[in-house]
Amino acid sequence: MARTGEGQTALVTGASAGIGVDLAECFAKDGYDLILTARSEGALQEVATRLAAAHRIKATPIAGDLSIPGGGATLAKAIAERGLRVDVLVNNAGYGIAGAFDGSDLTEQLGMIDLNDRALVELTHVYWPRMLANRRGGALNVASTASFQPGPLIAIY
Ligand SMILES: NC(=O)c1ccc[n+]([C@@H]2O[C@H](COP(=O)([O-])OP(=O)(O)OC[C@H]3O[C@@H](n4cnc5c(N)ncnc54)[C@H](OP(=O)(O)O)[C@@H]3O)[C@@H](O)[C@H]2O)c1
Repeated sequence: MARTGEGQTALVTGASAGIGVDLAECFAKDGYDLILTARSEGALQEVATRLAAAHRIKATPIAGDLSIPGGGATLAKAIAERGLRVDVLVNNAGYGIAGAFDGSDLTEQLGMIDLNDRALVELTHVYWPRMLANRRGGALNVASTASFQPGPLIAIY
């Protein structure tokens, strides 16, 4: 029986570890081909090899840093250069910092905003118009219920 994702490709960010690996596996089980991205090239390759073999799909690892402004555009270019298409976008890459603002590391704080928010908007901006035009596809944004709560020491997250 044909699987629901056959003939489609899911791009999963933050797919070298954690929740991203499990989400990638969910899509692979449904027959989606995968594009996996994160900074750790070796870990990405391992996930891609394992999921491709286990679920009879194609998995393409593309390493890169999405917290660098323009990181999303660089990734989209690398995807297009490989002749790949994105039918489903999973914006999962992200991290959280908790602690007092006073004495916090500015680069780390701004990096969190750039990865959790800016890169998500950048990638969605690239892929959303085609999904709408085709009336097919989707974007899954992975976030935390903590972002809806005015908790102490996590204001920026
Ligand atoms: N774990 C939780 O309890 C929890 C709860 C609520 C929400 N979340 C959210 O769920 C998502 C995944 O969390 P997780 O717990 O699975 O985190 P994780 O285990 O730390 O994995 C994060 C993933 O993001 C990638 N990543 C980190 N910085 C990156 C960068 N600059 N550019 C590209 N990729 C980057 C990491 O790979 P590299 O290091 O190789 O780049 C890794 O693949 C995050 O958005 C997080 O905020 C998690």
